[in-house]
Amino acid sequence: MNGKAKAGKLYVMGVGPGASDLITVRAARILSELDVIYTPTGKKGAQSLAHSIIEEYLSPKTEVCTYHFLMKADMAAKKAVWNEVAQTLKEDVISGRKVGFITLGDPMLFSTWVFILERMNSPSWLEIVPGITSFSAISAVSMMPLAMEDQTLAVISCTASEAVLEQALLNHDCIVLMKVYSRFPLIRDLLHRHNLLEHALMMADATLPTERCWRDLATQPLSEKGWENELSYFSTILINKNWKLSK
Ligand SMILES: C[S@@+](CC[C@H](N)C(=O)[O-])C[C@H]1O[C@@H](n2cnc3c(N)ncnc32)[C@H](O)[C@@H]1O
Repeated sequence: MNGKAKAGKLYVMGVGPGASDLITVRAARILSELDVIYTPTGKKGAQSLAHSIIEEYLSPKTEVCTYHFLMKADMAAKKAVWNEVAQTLKEDVISGRKVGFITLGDPMLFSTWVFILERMNSPSWLEIVPGITSFSAISAVSMMPLAMEDQTLAVISCTASEAVLEQALLNHDCIVLMKVYSRFPLIRDLLHRHNLLEHALMMADATLPTERCWRDLATQPLSEKGWENELSYFSTILINKNWKLSK
């Protein structure tokens, strides 16, 4: 990219937790000016959510390309996809295009985008636009503070081992538990053992029409159908040991 050739650029944008009007003004402006946008697609419909959030901001002239990150494949297959996506993005930028790439919430928090970033070596043609994280939105919607004064806040994925999760619960005043989905029974048990249920709430699909909030995880079962049928992949638990939950 030198001489008089049109300089391309890659914009990686966080599109927030779900509601279309929770994206940044900067992301909305960039989205309206793109030559091409790469949007995630997934079998479960979970990933196409990012595209539905930003659809209204796209120019009709923008080419829409979809890609599918293999969530359940082995590491070699995943790496092959990350290499391919990184290469495609680079080639598009080198050809002088304004390229967009979107992720849910914030791109730098538990996002597959980071594996692409690792393959790029911080180029000058890359701009990352932050997004509102799911836990910021949940804190606001539920009116439960994330942390204040000298409290500590841990953000942890429930894919971590039980020992790591337990240490986080013991060592911090405030804890955000992400990717709760398949570990819900274990998490509820840990919260019960450490007397934290009265300080915890869980929210699924925050800021979407399907949003649900559980403020009493001790006595409130999800439903007769059971947690495994009921719980959205987009479920997060907030714990604040110094905050009394209103029911
Ligand atoms: C792959 S991580 C993506 C995190 C995202 N980059 C962020 O900034 O929030 C997916 C996890 O984020 C959380 N999450 C994302 N969107 C959510 C929503 N609308 N409501 C509740 N939790 C959400 C869930 O814990 C989910 O398992």
